[in-house]
Amino acid sequence: MISNRIKEIAKLIDNTSSFTDIGCDHGYLALEARKNGNENLIICSDNKIGPLNNAESNLKNYDNILFVLSEGAKEIDVQTDIAVLAGMGYSTAKNIITESLDFFRKCKKIIIQVNQDVSSLRKWLMENGFKIIDEKIVFEYKYYQILVVENGEMKLTEEQILFGPYLLKEKSKTFRNYYHSQIKKIKRIIKKIDVNHPDRFKFEEQLFRIKKMLED
Ligand SMILES: C[S@@+](CC[C@H](N)C(=O)[O-])C[C@H]1O[C@@H](n2cnc3c(N)ncnc32)[C@H](O)[C@@H]1O
Repeated sequence: MISNRIKEIAKLIDNTSSFTDIGCDHGYLALEARKNGNENLIICSDNKIGPLNNAESNLKNYDNILFVLSEGAKEIDVQTDIAVLAGMGYSTAKNIITESLDFFRKCKKIIIQVNQDVSSLRKWLMENGFKIIDEKIVFEYKYYQILVVENGEMKLTEEQILFGPYLLKEKSKTFRNYYHSQIKKIKRIIKKIDVNHPDRFKFEEQLFRIKKMLED
């Protein structure tokens, strides 16, 4: 079963674009793109042979797919329109981009879904010549934020870094549900910690910012 998260990422890949899925694991993104009618070149890449073999097996009925064993994009010598980095940590995604900057600069867009530290990712993108052009939030047991990025400048406010410029503009039902769940989580933490705990102020401030953002 292909997850909502993968389906949402696949929707961001138009049928006229080729793409590279870095850290492809099972190859489900390529599978979903083919099901959606994308017949362009797909590069499925992973730094481990096991996942890459799984991807190859899952995609054996489809043509025009290259399977590349590669640390990040280092071994990829064919350029595609789009690069996807999904289901990994912020540091991993950031390092992969930094180590093969030329490859990523030549992509028309990059789709990035990190499992945590999305705010740090936004800040890093802003400071490194990337511009967010769209954002999605999906729920699949957990909440996932997906960023669509291209080369360019952007200036984000602190609030936009924290909540996402496009997610903030839309404030979708899923987005609101996510922050209502965050409020409950932070309240539970505050209840457990001592009034003099050094982190207490940090949590209270987070709570205040989320509540204010939802009210605005
Ligand atoms: C949790 S899976 C995510 C798979 C898929 N992208 C998704 O979103 O469902 C992470 C995959 O990234 C691969 N990976 C981790 N670090 C990597 C790196 N530096 N270069 C290439 N692949 C990497 C792992 O081997 C694993 O298959």
